[in-house]
This record gives sequence, structure tokens and C-alpha cells, in this order.
Amino acid sequence: MSQFTDRIEQKLISYLPKGDNEDIQKLISSMEYSLMAGGKRVRPMLTVEFAKLCGGSEEAAMPFACALEMIHTYSLIHDDLPCMDNDDLRRGKPTNHKVFGEATALLAGNGLLTFAFETLVSEEAVRLNGYEKCAKAVKVLAECAGVNGMLGGQMIDLESEGKRVVAEHLKIMDNKKTGALMIAAAKLGCISAGASDAQISAACEYASDIGLAFQIIDDMLDITSTTEELGKPVGSDNENEKSTYAALLGLEECRRLAEELTDNAILSLEIFGNASQKLKDFAYYLLKREK
Ligand code: IPE
Ligand code: IPE
Ligand code: MG
Ligand code: MG
Ligand code: MG
Repeated sequence: MSQFTDRIEQKLISYLPKGDNEDIQKLISSMEYSLMAGGKRVRPMLTVEFAKLCGGSEEAAMPFACALEMIHTYSLIHDDLPCMDNDDLRRGKPTNHKVFGEATALLAGNGLLTFAFETLVSEEAVRLNGYEKCAKAVKVLAECAGVNGMLGGQMIDLESEGKRVVAEHLKIMDNKKTGALMIAAAKLGCISAGASDAQISAACEYASDIGLAFQIIDDMLDITSTTEELGKPVGSDNENEKSTYAALLGLEECRRLAEELTDNAILSLEIFGNASQKLKDFAYYLLKREK
């Protein structure tokens, strides 16, 4: 897995735009700062694994995987801003706005958001996938990152602060704020490979379940882990009076739910047979993760 992380990071750095002048170079430096700060690279890994599982290649899926990681990183830069979760540490480093200031952090997020779409239709992406697949990728990523996807989930998250909400509400929120980009990850891999409808639907079910489990575990780690281990501040959800599964149901029930979702996710992969072992192992790795 660490070898994959190296490969994706090499690609990410090679794709980053060059600035026309010094001021623009500063914006690109702030984009690069967050993009290259580390991170588990879970979403690009899913994209590439689903591409390979459906008969595609890592090479062709790579521009799609990188575009998604740019969107994810933009969502984190904005999520950390004082007007949102107001966090000072991300991926083990001071958050973007702490280093570059709020205004530049805002632009860095916007820069990564727009550059992601440039990457989906870059010469390399089109050469490896063809225009039609690139157009499909644009549609999927825009929908999953947009108002009824990740952005909508973030809005629900903000509106739920300080309120007591029911589990069904949390499910809708987490499916959107976190599940939507996991689904994008799976779909982008499938699109690159030219997967069948049945394969796409199985991949989406898997991604949806691990997405919800992923956010539940993220909320648990905010309580049980340490800032050193996580590379982001623990106790942030409590401080912001966030509505989370952990706050509503307690840690034990959260663990049970996350296990159940992981088991379900793995069942969805049955149609792929033994070839899907890596993605099955990956679901357990995400369940057991400590950061
Ligand atoms: C953090 O995502 C935000 C959530 C959706 C919980 P990750 O845990 O994947 O963050 P990085 O990319 O590894 O930093
Ligand atoms: C963020 O959820 C989900 C995003 C869309 C960025 P959190 O606010 O729980 O993510 P962390 O804990 O700051 O990484
Ligand atoms: Mg948040
Ligand atoms: Mg946050
Ligand atoms: Mg969190």
C-alpha cells in the first residue's frame, strides 16, 4: 500500500499547475501544501482497485484518482476553516489557513476544486480513457461532490450542530458528506475500466457501506485517539457540539454498526469472485484503522 501511496503522490505533484507569476505561485504553493501533506489516499486507492477489478489499468485510472484526491483535499481545507470546524491541525501539519491565511486557504480550496475537473479532461486523461469516459467522469465527480453529495452533507453537518437528531438523520448526513466521495471513487474506477452496470452497482453498494463505516469510525477516533496519532485535533466534534453517531449511540454501538457495514460491503463484492480479495482486505483495514 505504501508503494501505491508513493505512486499517487508522484502523479499528484506532476499534475499540479505552474503559476504565471509570483502571486499565483503562492496560491499553487498553498494547494500543494495540503495536497502533499500526506493522508491515507483511501479514495484514489479505491478508484484504482475498482478499475483493475473491472479489467482496466492503474495508468488509465490515475488521472481520475488524482482528480478525486484534489476534491477531497479541497473539502478538508474548507472543513478546517474557522467558519466551519475551526481546526488548527491536518495531516500532522498546521492547517492551510494557519500557514497561508484564510483568504488564500479559501482560494486554494477553490483552486483544487477547479483543477480537479481540468485533470479529468486533461490530455493524458483523454489519451488513456477517451472523451466519452472522461465526460462520464466529470458528471459523476460533479454530482458526488456537489449540492446533493458532499457539499450537501457538509451543510447538514453545520445545521445539525448543537441539536439532538435521530440516527436516520445522521445516516443521510454521513452518506452525503463522506459516502458520496467514496461512491465517486468506486464509480470513477469502473468508468475508466468500462465496467458493466452490474459491476458498477455492486461497486457502489460496497463504497456506500464503507463510506458510512468510515465516517462512524472517524467520529469514534475523535473521541478515543490522540492528536499525535490522528494528525488532527481530537475532541473537535465535542467542542463544536457536532451531531455524530458516537455522541448519539455510544462507542460500543458504533463499533457494532461499523462491523455490520463492513460485512455488508464485503458481501456486495461476491459478483467479482476471488479477484476482489484485495478490496475485501481493504474494508477490514479501514475498519481497524487507528488514524
Ligand atoms: C477525513 O478523511 C475526512 C472524512 C471524510 C472523515 P480521511 O481520513 O480520508 O483523511 P486523509 O485523506 O487520510 O487525511
Ligand atoms: C468531514 O467530516 C467530511 C468532509 C466532507 C470534509 P469531519 O469534519 O468529521 O472530518 P475531519 O474529522 O475534520 O477530518
Ligand atoms: Mg466537518
Ligand atoms: Mg472537520
Ligand atoms: Mg471528524
